[in-house]
Amino acid sequence: MKNNNSISNFKDAPSKSKKILTTSALPYVNGLQHLGHLAGNNLPTDLYSRFLRQKGYEVLSVCGADMHGAAIEIGAEKEGLSVLDYSEKYFKKIISVYKKFNISYDIFSKTSIKENFELTQEIAKRLLENGFLVEKTIEMFFSKVDNRFLMDRLIEGVCPFCDFSNARGDQCDKCGELLTPQELKNPFSKISGDKNLELKKTRHLFLQLGKLKPKLEEWLANKRWDNTTAGIVKKWMKVELKDRCITRDLEWGVPVPFPNFENKVFYVWFDAPIAYLAMTKKLCLDRNIDPNEWIKDNNSTMWTQFMGKDNIVFHSIIFPAILLGADQNWKLVDTIKGLNFLNFEGEKFSKSNNVGIYLEDAIKLYQSDMLRYYLIINSPETADFNFKVELFKDTINKDLNNTLGNFVSRVTKFTAKYFDDNVPVPCQFTQEDVSFFDNIQSILDDYHRNMFSLNIKKSAENVRSLWIQGNKFITDNEPWKIVKNDRERTATILFICFQLIDLFRRTMKPLIPDTADKLSKMTPDLKLDDVIPDRFDLAVLPKGEKFSIIDNLFEKLE
Ligand code: MF3
Ligand code: ZN
Repeated sequence: MKNNNSISNFKDAPSKSKKILTTSALPYVNGLQHLGHLAGNNLPTDLYSRFLRQKGYEVLSVCGADMHGAAIEIGAEKEGLSVLDYSEKYFKKIISVYKKFNISYDIFSKTSIKENFELTQEIAKRLLENGFLVEKTIEMFFSKVDNRFLMDRLIEGVCPFCDFSNARGDQCDKCGELLTPQELKNPFSKISGDKNLELKKTRHLFLQLGKLKPKLEEWLANKRWDNTTAGIVKKWMKVELKDRCITRDLEWGVPVPFPNFENKVFYVWFDAPIAYLAMTKKLCLDRNIDPNEWIKDNNSTMWTQFMGKDNIVFHSIIFPAILLGADQNWKLVDTIKGLNFLNFEGEKFSKSNNVGIYLEDAIKLYQSDMLRYYLIINSPETADFNFKVELFKDTINKDLNNTLGNFVSRVTKFTAKYFDDNVPVPCQFTQEDVSFFDNIQSILDDYHRNMFSLNIKKSAENVRSLWIQGNKFITDNEPWKIVKNDRERTATILFICFQLIDLFRRTMKPLIPDTADKLSKMTPDLKLDDVIPDRFDLAVLPKGEKFSIIDNLFEKLE
């Protein structure tokens, strides 16, 4: 075979000695998760983490529920539950549904764990000591009807940038700009609809991002971001970085540990990202490993963060600024993978407007691997993706049923018929076989390249290309035509097909793990690992090994 790629030749492949930390943006516990969350956050993380584990890297994949913030208080009120019961209810639901989709986090924790309370307060103290926090008395909207201050998602109004009529007090969902309540035109309470808001004085802590700019610039100088992230960072760093309020007049959250702030908590976007570190610390302690190897900057860990694109500014600017300001040698992000959104039959997925499919409902209708496959091969990487049920069915029937499923059942059934239940013994490979192996190798190389470079969609297309090549190989060689008079060549063709099925199994596992596990039952007496090989190896499934027929991997969707 021609090319001799080894791992180190792939662009973006971390050195084998690196520990890999992967995180997904922490989902709010205010309601059920839908397919959009999965496609734009959890699945890409899972695909990449599984791939690296199967390449032999030491990987920790961390996520957890974002427990705080006003949205959760509102949700609880709506359902007539205490905030604690409410958040616990959705926490359990998230965990159980992720399990059904085989999302392989090493830990799925919560921002409310004691490790995070401690770390958040410690980092805030350090920021104060280092002169990056300032106390200010500001005017904040107050609703007499609601008897509370209104900020973030508790208040809406018209966006000053794009005129969207339902911009939130913290961010406009239409144009993505971060906002403060005072910037909204015609603000109203999201709780009661109250428009008669008054401005009342209240004292808060502000992160002095401007003062942190030199540190940020120094850190940003060695970053190679993808285009989306680079664009956002550039836009932010061009303008003056404004002070950002990091405390709130709420009860639910991490208490602010300073005198005269007794009734306040940190803003949810302050404590949530810090929880990545706290959760990783908890995981390490649970496993008896030294957390500092993972959460302190010691050059041995690579941290890749996955998120929807509306979260990028928090992860590329604000959170790094917080950690840099604390000046405790915290591990900072290396790579950000920001994803676009999923639309449903042409409309934006939305909890409030009932557009889209909840994960709990989707998994009752379809096999997990079907949804994983469709959402990964159509990953909303460069643009939003429109989920259409008809197209989903077509793709599943074509790719999973016809291309993959049929190949496996055809090979195993045909072999069982003519060679009993043993992997056939091959003879000489032909010149054509050898160039076919080269072809498979170059797809496998591409697959590695795309996985390491986080080209999600393309990596899945490579997996599918392998299946297509398998089908082509068997159609070109027509073993059913020669089995009667050339048993040796037939055996060789089928032997190659068995090795292909094993390669399929390994490379598909990050994408469709249930199917990979079904395929591993093909040779019941053989304990095979899941390692993804650098090279297509023709001696993995031993000749003569007992196998079982694998049929009906997927139901056909009508
Ligand atoms: N809960 C936020 C959202 O769903 C994401 C928080 S990510 C973290 O948009 F970094 F803050 F944890
Ligand atoms: Zn806007």
